[in-house]
Amino acid sequence: SVIITPGYGMAVAQAQYPVAELTRQLREKGVNVRFGIHPVAGRLPGHMNVLLAEAKVPYDIVLEMDEINGDFPDTDVSMVIGANDIVNPSAQDDPTSPIAGMPVLEVWKAKTSIVMKRSMASGYAGVDNPLFYKENNRMLFGDAKKMLDEVLVALKT
Ligand code: TAP
Repeated sequence: SVIITPGYGMAVAQAQYPVAELTRQLREKGVNVRFGIHPVAGRLPGHMNVLLAEAKVPYDIVLEMDEINGDFPDTDVSMVIGANDIVNPSAQDDPTSPIAGMPVLEVWKAKTSIVMKRSMASGYAGVDNPLFYKENNRMLFGDAKKMLDEVLVALKT
């Protein structure tokens, strides 16, 4: 099972199209793929929902944070695509963090998490993200669309 968490970087990269195609191919193979949408993901209310709808991701697999947050421990892979603040565990763990108390998607509770972004740079809030250093996390550095396009090519061969 897979949960995809998109953020502002998915919008910047216009990666919703390869994300939708990867989702389609995984579902064809019987993988349970769902999306976890944080209420302030991106830069506008509903930003991620609009992009995913544009790319024709089925509505019934796009879930709000509160609907899906309890499911990460039973998930094999969580894919974080161009998101940062909304998946930052210091919101829960570090009372001195500027984002302390902000609800976050608990992507690190999946068996493995994969973060796709270009660098170790911080997001909108300007704070470091301890998720990137967790043992069960992998960083894939690059533009989200280019990387997903490469994944799709690799799946064809
Ligand atoms: P952010 O915390 O801003 O993180 C987005 C990440 O995307 C960045 O760290 C950046 O890392 C990566 N990125 C940028 N371009 C990319 C590309 N081409 N390919 C791959 N990754 C790319 O976004 P978020 O997690 O969605 O959180 C939203 C933030 O915006 C919150 O702090 C929220 O409070 C704030 N905000 C939201 C709203 C609404 S209403 N949604 C309004 C105003 C502010 P790299 O540079 O390393 O690639």
